[in-house]
Amino acid sequence: MSGTQTTYNDKVVRQFAVMTVIWGIVGMLVGVIIAAQLVWPELNFGPWLHFGRLRPLHTNAVIFAFGGCALFATSYWCVQRTSHTRLWGGPLIPFTFWGWQIIILLAAVTLPLGITTGKEYAELEWPVDILITLVWVAYALVFFGTIAVRKVSHIYVANWFFGAFIIAVALLHIVNSMEMPITLTKSYSMYSGVQDAMIQWWYGHNAVGFFLTAGFLGMMYYFVPKQAGRPVYSYRLSVVHFWALIFTYMWAGPHHLHYTALPDWTQSVGMIFSLILLAPSWGGMINGIMTLSGAWHKLRDDPVLKFLITSLSFYGMSTFEGPMMSIKTVNALSHYTDWTVGHVHSGALGWVAMVSIGSIYYLLPKLFGKTEMYSTKLVTTHFWIATIGTVLYIASMWIAGVMQGLMWRAVNADGTLAYSFVESVKGSYPFWAIRWLGGVLFLTGMLIMAYNMFKTMAGGKTQDMPVVAPAGHHA
Ligand code: HEM
Ligand code: HEM
Repeated sequence: MSGTQTTYNDKVVRQFAVMTVIWGIVGMLVGVIIAAQLVWPELNFGPWLHFGRLRPLHTNAVIFAFGGCALFATSYWCVQRTSHTRLWGGPLIPFTFWGWQIIILLAAVTLPLGITTGKEYAELEWPVDILITLVWVAYALVFFGTIAVRKVSHIYVANWFFGAFIIAVALLHIVNSMEMPITLTKSYSMYSGVQDAMIQWWYGHNAVGFFLTAGFLGMMYYFVPKQAGRPVYSYRLSVVHFWALIFTYMWAGPHHLHYTALPDWTQSVGMIFSLILLAPSWGGMINGIMTLSGAWHKLRDDPVLKFLITSLSFYGMSTFEGPMMSIKTVNALSHYTDWTVGHVHSGALGWVAMVSIGSIYYLLPKLFGKTEMYSTKLVTTHFWIATIGTVLYIASMWIAGVMQGLMWRAVNADGTLAYSFVESVKGSYPFWAIRWLGGVLFLTGMLIMAYNMFKTMAGGKTQDMPVVAPAGHHA
């Protein structure tokens, strides 16, 4: 193993933290491009840069490259600090970093070429799937290996969430990616028909529940108390929150398949579990926000805390909206419309991106031997631009979505449709333009972050920090 037991392995955290910002810019730039393509269809160039090819590139880049690097960086930082030991795993550690970057590059090449399984959020073809499995097993070994050699008996709750995220994603990836290779670049799913749909959305929803939620809750449970300088509001609530959330998420997938060939009772099970999911989700949100009780004044001039707490508000909003949208009669209006896209981004921009950005801002100065970011003012600017961008994005999609749903179902007195489909497309243009503007703002914030990051890195010492001996307790 490189390094000694007396320092933390911060190199890998540094690598993943920097790549979070870089991949965030790339993924969001592709988001801005596809948003522009919907407003100005002339921007669809050739087969490779067409909306249909770039859209999965966007989702893969933001979820797995940006979100993934943020999760690796924060989980590696958190597990070492809370276990009071250096990361376990020797060469497995750099393998997780380089392996993950190679997977991202393979995605960036294969998706525009049209090499895809066609399963949403699981588009990458079988050779890449195998590489993902290898990297993920290495990640699990490093993470749980570090927990195994911890110097305190207690396992801090953030690690429970990171751990559940790692185990669940392994399970989801392996089950949903069962496929029969035909050539090097083409495979067919092992499942067919409605079973394939059910497995896919069991995967898809739990990708939301574990990749986009549980891991980021791990981040929340570590970085909110750290930045606020207060212990978690309720440790008991965090444990209840944990078990309720991971148990309930697993059953909610069928809400993506309302009014399809999936048996009706299965859809109802999905709907009921989605409604129940409101409770643990809000339990977690309340636990995070209330951690600030008695320290609310810190919100006024600490932009990192602003990012973290605002992300929790968006988390609360999207986990209220989700259960509502899972009600069959509401879904009859929202499904296929931009309402879904708005819901996605209130979770993705408001929650996932903001909590990651806040956590990475917490880490950067520490990783590069500085006491604070090069410019705190620019962090505040970033916060406001990102918040306005998110609000523009989701508000325009709500309006567009409800309008589309209402137009599609409107009928004349004689029972004929009141609007043709293209009329709903025409009506959507102004809202797509506003969404594009929201995206441009959010991306601008990321560019400001990159500038601030490189300025903070300049001339900094990159020594690994000494391992802190366990005290009576830690937060
Ligand atoms: C209690 C929590 C939540 C519930 C019950 C829920 C429920 C739903 C429902 C009913 C849909 C629409 C399905 C459809 O009509 O096709 C949906 C879509 C989606 N939600 Fe949520 N949601 C929740 C939280 C979140 C969060 C926090 C995020 C992101 C971080 C998120 C990301 C997504 C995504 C990506 C989709 C779109 C999937 C697709 O069609 O590609 N959800 N959700
Ligand atoms: C600058 C920021 C962003 C912009 C402009 C943007 C734009 C877009 C656009 C235009 C779409 C396609 C919508 C459609 O098909 O009608 C989309 C889909 C999607 N984006 Fe983003 N996005 C951004 C950031 C993010 C982030 C940070 C995440 C995740 C962490 C994310 C996750 C998704 C997902 C999951 C979908 C698929 C939604 C669905 O199938 O319902 N996006 N995005």
